[in-house]
Amino acid sequence: MSFKAVFIAIVLGTALIIAAFLIHSVRPSVELSQPGPEYVRATGKCAECHSRETAAIVHQFARSKHARLGITCYDCHRAVKGQKGSDHNGFVIAGEVTPLNCSQCHSTEYDQYVRSRHGAPAWAAVLGPAGFTAEQIEFAEEHHPGAVDRPPNALAKAEGPGALAKGCLACHSIGRPNEDGSIGTCTPCHSRHSASVSLAREPQTCGQCHMGPDHAQIEIYNESKHGVLFAAQRASLNLDADPKSLTTRDMPVPTCATCHMSGLEGMKVTHDVTERLSYYLFAAISEKRPGYRDGQTEMKELCLKCHGKTHVEKFYQEAEVVLEATNSKVTEAQNLMKALRKEGLLTADPFDEPIEFIAFDLWHYYGRTAKHGAFMGGADFVQWHGNYQLLLKMVEMRKIAEELRAQAK
Ligand code: HEC
Ligand code: HEC
Ligand code: HEC
Ligand code: HEC
Ligand code: HEC
Ligand code: HEC
Ligand code: HEC
Ligand code: HEC
Repeated sequence: MSFKAVFIAIVLGTALIIAAFLIHSVRPSVELSQPGPEYVRATGKCAECHSRETAAIVHQFARSKHARLGITCYDCHRAVKGQKGSDHNGFVIAGEVTPLNCSQCHSTEYDQYVRSRHGAPAWAAVLGPAGFTAEQIEFAEEHHPGAVDRPPNALAKAEGPGALAKGCLACHSIGRPNEDGSIGTCTPCHSRHSASVSLAREPQTCGQCHMGPDHAQIEIYNESKHGVLFAAQRASLNLDADPKSLTTRDMPVPTCATCHMSGLEGMKVTHDVTERLSYYLFAAISEKRPGYRDGQTEMKELCLKCHGKTHVEKFYQEAEVVLEATNSKVTEAQNLMKALRKEGLLTADPFDEPIEFIAFDLWHYYGRTAKHGAFMGGADFVQWHGNYQLLLKMVEMRKIAEELRAQAK
């Protein structure tokens, strides 16, 4: 072979390589970040097209256990019995993916979920029973007397529709009635496409809704010993552990999910977050739940995976003392309001006079905070955000009552 031929071959080869680089660099980035052929095969035509249309969704999905197991886009998105389907590029897909689609494969989780207060009671807390079928109302009332068959919330009415959709219902949609007859949504805890267990075990996931002065669970947790340890040790925790065999080696520190849902060391996983509770802490006056004994026994069984019996019993006894004390403080405030109403010094409207807001804050913020703090290890919340405020608000209420009575004379 002549030198000239070799020279031409080298020049041509180099030119081809440079050209390939140039062409590659001007390809749209969507095309570059396409998932590998195995995902396109596993998810079929949806993923192929959606890698161009909404690539992020395909990437989220690719991280999930569903993708690893060969579950496809269409397994979740196809319209099932009871759903209105619409034609989408040759497929009949559901207008909305709801728990009805998930329950094809996860009926146990769905059944537990709908019987909890995350089901219909959560929605009815804002809007009452409208939107639920007679059977759904009956079913929920059996598990939670008075929780669904009740009037729409007075505060929601007073604040109007703007606050309702983007405020109350953004959190309370966890129990929404769906058009296909199912209830709620699984995505607040698992997300749509990563269907992740580790996400659901993150305290902040529950803290999307369980926050603020009226239900300060995330704030209390973050300041509790459990929360501090979680933050310090999270890198070494196995948040991805299989729920069916979760041990204290995976998670020696509890998160919200551990206490309220996980099947730690052979206990059973539950999507019924009501199951392990013994009091109605959210109520103005906290009474025992119908399932008091079983609920408390189950939660204590969980504590005992990590603590000694003396420690746990003492914890509950002290929390119950806070609960009783809070009940009597709130009763005092309620009696004062009743007396003022009886004396004709207040209108019937529940939210039109300053003292009504103080009375509301007294139980709804400070009473709840004291009780939640006591049951979840938040000393600062029992004290400064709880009892101190209870004392202060009662003094303010007495002062206003005196003034109202003086004006009436
Ligand atoms: C030929 C391309 C193509 C195929 C195949 C395809 N889609 Fe789409 N899809 C689109 C486009 C384009 C949109 C609109 C995106 C937008 O709204 O910007 C879309 C939107 C959607 C939406 C949102 C609908 C809405 O109203 O917001 C869903 C859900 C969806 N596709 C699911 C699927 C599923 C599941 C499959 C497979 C069964 C699939 N798609 C197959 C192109 C495709
Ligand atoms: C585990 C079930 C599940 C799987 C698998 C799944 N999806 Fe979804 N998808 C959902 C849910 C739930 C929603 C949100 C509910 C709704 O609005 O319908 C959703 C919403 C969407 C949307 C609308 C998102 C938006 O923000 O507008 C698109 C597009 C979509 N999915 C495409 C896909 C594609 C493509 C795949 C496969 C790569 C896929 N989905 C796999 C459950 C799933
Ligand atoms: C076609 C059947 C099917 C559908 C539909 C389906 N899944 Fe799954 N899902 C599975 C299988 C199979 C597993 C693996 C189960 C196991 O490991 O025991 C799984 C696992 C999961 C896990 C645990 C993941 C992990 O990391 O351990 C979650 C969470 C989950 N699914 C949520 C959902 C949600 C939410 C929906 C609806 C939006 C849904 N799934 C729809 C079949 C399905
Ligand atoms: C999308 C918002 C939202 C998310 C996310 C959420 N919750 Fe809730 N949760 C609610 C609402 C709303 C209620 C009140 C329901 C009622 O009593 O009307 C509630 C109530 C509860 C209750 C009390 C149930 C009862 O019987 O009184 C527990 C316990 C609970 N949630 C635990 C959790 C845990 C643990 C997580 C995270 C794994 C979580 N929640 C995530 C909205 C949410
Ligand atoms: C940031 C999320 C969020 C917003 C916004 C929100 N809530 Fe809640 N709500 C919750 C959570 C979480 C609970 C559960 C508290 C607990 O059990 O300690 C709850 C509890 C309740 C309860 C007591 C439980 C029951 O079943 O009676 C009522 C009533 C209620 N909310 C009504 C409303 C109304 C009305 C609005 C709007 C004016 C609203 N909520 C806005 C998250 C929210
Ligand atoms: C309040 C948050 C929350 C909601 C809502 C929720 N999950 Fe879960 N889910 C969890 C948590 C937390 C775990 C992991 C429990 C643990 O730590 O072992 C889990 C685990 C799972 C698993 C794995 C169970 C196993 O034994 O392997 C499946 C499947 C699942 N969820 C499906 C669903 C479906 C379907 C829905 C809707 C009907 C749903 N989840 C709604 C929090 C939630
Ligand atoms: C160490 C275990 C533990 C952890 C961690 C924990 N909780 Fe709790 N939680 C409890 C106990 C105990 C109670 C009171 C149970 C009872 O009624 O007997 C409670 C009560 C509640 C209630 C009150 C329900 C009502 O009656 O108003 C909600 C809501 C709640 N927890 C949510 C959460 C959230 C959200 C997190 C994380 C930010 C969390 N919990 C972390 C143990 C825990
Ligand atoms: C998964 C294990 C685990 C579970 C479940 C658990 N805890 Fe803990 N808890 C811990 C760890 C770890 C500490 C920190 C101990 C230390 O200081 O070394 C702790 C600390 C505490 C403390 C603070 C002790 C102190 O003096 O600082 C209290 C109180 C407590 N837990 C109560 C409970 C109660 C009540 C339950 C059940 C509702 C519970 N825990 C469930 C692991 C757990």
